[in-house]
Amino acid sequence: MQNKISRRDSLALLGSSVAMAVAPLNHFTGGGQPIRTTSNEPADRARRMKWWHEAKFGMFIHWGLYSVLGRHEWVMEVEGIPVAEYQMLAKQFTPKPNAARDWAKLARQAGMKYMVMTTKHHEGFCLFDTQYTQYCAPKQACGRDLVREYVEAARAEGLRFGFYHSLMDWHHPDGARCAHDEAARKRFVEYIHGQIRELMTNYGKVDILWYDVAWPLDAKSWESEKMNTMVFQLQPDIIVNNRNLLPGDFSTPEQEIVAEKGDRAWEACMTMNDSWGYHRADDAWKTPKTIVRNLVTCAQGGGNYLLNIGPKPDGSVPEESVRILTAVGKWMEKHGSAIYGAERSQVTESLFANFSRKGNTLFIHVHFWPGSTVTVGGLRTKVKSARLFKNGQKVDFRQDDFRVQFTGLPERAPDELVSVIEVEFESEPKQDMQFVRKEKKREGV
Ligand code: GLC
Repeated sequence: MQNKISRRDSLALLGSSVAMAVAPLNHFTGGGQPIRTTSNEPADRARRMKWWHEAKFGMFIHWGLYSVLGRHEWVMEVEGIPVAEYQMLAKQFTPKPNAARDWAKLARQAGMKYMVMTTKHHEGFCLFDTQYTQYCAPKQACGRDLVREYVEAARAEGLRFGFYHSLMDWHHPDGARCAHDEAARKRFVEYIHGQIRELMTNYGKVDILWYDVAWPLDAKSWESEKMNTMVFQLQPDIIVNNRNLLPGDFSTPEQEIVAEKGDRAWEACMTMNDSWGYHRADDAWKTPKTIVRNLVTCAQGGGNYLLNIGPKPDGSVPEESVRILTAVGKWMEKHGSAIYGAERSQVTESLFANFSRKGNTLFIHVHFWPGSTVTVGGLRTKVKSARLFKNGQKVDFRQDDFRVQFTGLPERAPDELVSVIEVEFESEPKQDMQFVRKEKKREGV
């Protein structure tokens, strides 16, 4: 979350509402009334969320006029570029046709099961055909509905897809004025609700609606409840996030992996370097190993991982992103079944591994391979058997009160990036580090 000064209003206002967008969920709107819609019913939510929980791994796509400048998607705001100057970029934004097909292929090959693309970012430029503004790809130099191309590409690769839509808008004349001018608020809310209606109406079944930054309004002024009700009426199977300041179906930790408590669904979104939009000079690339570790950490906490690409203005994906995703895809090809459909793991502690779980099976994902013995402390549930995930080869083990030692393993990591040991337990595997810390261990009991 960028928490920068908006030239259109005070830092305090921006800061507080941006913070609210990711703040712990409040089940009450301004009026103090609990939110009650069918979409909030647990059974209905479980039905709508099922595929998403299983999917675990998705592709985020940030694409817009900022891609032309190639200096991050906040360039308009942070460099103070006037609207009149910035909007001229629409004359230069003429991507190659069907660039989205390459993204969808790349996503599928990387083991991702869904995509979420910016239909409008904070800059205000719409990638889809909208009756509400001329400032959209079909009516500018591009001359095409880029959202339609994206939708078709996702479907062609068998991927689920969603729309990111920024509520905040730096281009619309009411985008900031709405905070203190009721007529402007009404116009702006109608504008954003109208666009969401278009997105929910014109592209067939949509799987995810991913709202972003609600500045400068609160849930009440956004009429967020009405917004979600409309969305669920038009798309009864859709899932929505929490950034229109209602809880929605899932939380959206950004650039960090923080598991939600209890059953609350969550998705960590993250960049591969330090920018969401194309940033030519940003070379802070994560390694493929880091990406795999992050994905496993999400699975371990019962969450999803939404990993971003920032295509260039012509729609091509930066070479580094392709390289990273290709390596991750190779790993996923072999190990995906330890990730898809994984449930939250109570076992989390290790200095060289993290974990995913399915029923009574624990997958130990070792990123720093320690040698021929791999030990996990505090595993008090009885182990039945273990094998190398890679080839099914049986692994010997010793279990006592304090630890399980897997022995006779190769000296060097058997797999590239992250090596996986699959362990079958008598019941759901549990780790008790408190027990390990007790005196009994010191006494060698
Ligand atoms: C924030 C940023 C934005 C990015 C998004 C991704 O809202 O303002 O640039 O799109 O987070 O989660």
